[in-house]
Amino acid sequence: MDCTKLICSKNSMIKDVMTCIDNSAKGTAFIVDDDKKIVGVATDGDIRRALLNGAGLKENIKTYMNRNFIYASDPVEAQRIFQQYEWKIKVIPLVDGQMHIKDYAECNDSQHMALAQPQLNGNEYKYLMDAFLSTWISSTGKYVTQFEETFSKYCGVRYGVATSNGTTALHLALTALGIGEGDEVIVPDITFAATINAVIYTGATPVIVDIEKDSWCIDPNEIEKAVTSKTKAVIPVHIYGQPCDMGRISDIAKKNNLYIVEDCAEAHGAEWDGRKVGSFGIISCFSFFGNKVITTGEGGMCVTNSDALNEKMRILRDHGMSRERKYYHEVVGFNYRMTNLQAAIGLAQLEHIDEILNWRYSLEEEYQKVFLEIQGVWMQKNNFKDRKKIAWLVSALVDEDKREGVLQKLKENNIDARPFFTPLSEMEIYREYAKDCVVSKRISKMGLNLPTTYEMNEDKIKKIAVIMNELLCSQENT
Ligand SMILES: Cc1ncc(COP(=O)(O)O)c(C=O)c1O
Repeated sequence: MDCTKLICSKNSMIKDVMTCIDNSAKGTAFIVDDDKKIVGVATDGDIRRALLNGAGLKENIKTYMNRNFIYASDPVEAQRIFQQYEWKIKVIPLVDGQMHIKDYAECNDSQHMALAQPQLNGNEYKYLMDAFLSTWISSTGKYVTQFEETFSKYCGVRYGVATSNGTTALHLALTALGIGEGDEVIVPDITFAATINAVIYTGATPVIVDIEKDSWCIDPNEIEKAVTSKTKAVIPVHIYGQPCDMGRISDIAKKNNLYIVEDCAEAHGAEWDGRKVGSFGIISCFSFFGNKVITTGEGGMCVTNSDALNEKMRILRDHGMSRERKYYHEVVGFNYRMTNLQAAIGLAQLEHIDEILNWRYSLEEEYQKVFLEIQGVWMQKNNFKDRKKIAWLVSALVDEDKREGVLQKLKENNIDARPFFTPLSEMEIYREYAKDCVVSKRISKMGLNLPTTYEMNEDKIKKIAVIMNELLCSQENT
């Protein structure tokens, strides 16, 4: 890049520097001394502030330039700095050991690719304002009931009990089922920690089992092997949008008298044998965190077909207070309520869930098409009999020894991606609960989640593909 257009002498007047910035259109000028060494940086913001403070156009820039400026020695270091400053700095001079300007690096944040982003372009603002203006901003209000009714109906289940988040939904469900000390609950090795934490909160003992190598979901064979006389429940987690094998899991649960509590936090709208996830558990739990398919900011919901459990969860969610007798507490409960404001957003989100799922699906297809050209990437499978996955976060595997390099390179290019969850069995605090988990350990080291937002397009996916291809084809292990 030609950096001469950005350079001004330390003897320049403010007016000259403004002209320089105007001509380069980079918003920044590099100020050099007589030996051409950089001694300061002046941005259009610096100049605006100088003028507002009474500086004259003919004054020397030296007084107003930033002497504590940021510089880098090469583009990679510059990218790290842009990232460190969250892409707020736009231009960085690249200098040699003597502070001579060699080049400059530019941050192009229009190229930033977020991992996830809520799509709030329906009635979200309208309903939120309506709830706000009604002054019903806590957990009483029409939107909570409407959201509970419409979301449970969407899942094909009779009742919905909205909660403050997905973790409280899981804890509420397990508590309502009477699970506690002395009981065992089977969970998969690959999941977000909330699944196992909810079990631990109840005093029950989690039992961590391995996953299927192709679906990355809990392996029914491993569930079967882990059942003991103490096992009360199993929590199948529909991981990264992929439904678990609910046929086999339902059979095993029936045979062994186990409760199924589905963790559907990552799979709103996914199906098994034509039935939506959430309709297989005695209680099923959802999260509406900001990166989920639909969001309420923070939020969750338990859905159930049971009159009794619906009633019990409503009491437990509200401090254990009797529904007939105000301020009479029947059980030790919690405050796990969702606010009317959250529910207002959720209701609007639900109105366009099909559209959201469709663009996610098309985006995943686009990734699959572009990635066909790259060797060494395996996309999440979507061809299982009976399972209809959704695209929560586009997910793929790469060689284990290349995964960190890929993530690093994407980061340097302002592209958000993340590694798969660390297996629970590999974390000190959970290790004691784990059965032998071989598959999850391997998959977790290979997996990454890629940007899944409606701003993604073919060109951006191609950019990711080029970066990944370069790394995956190199011989060097990273
Ligand atoms: C599989 C799984 N379970 C549970 C949760 C917990 O949900 P929340 O973050 O709303 O508490 C999450 C979410 O992040 C999740 O991914």
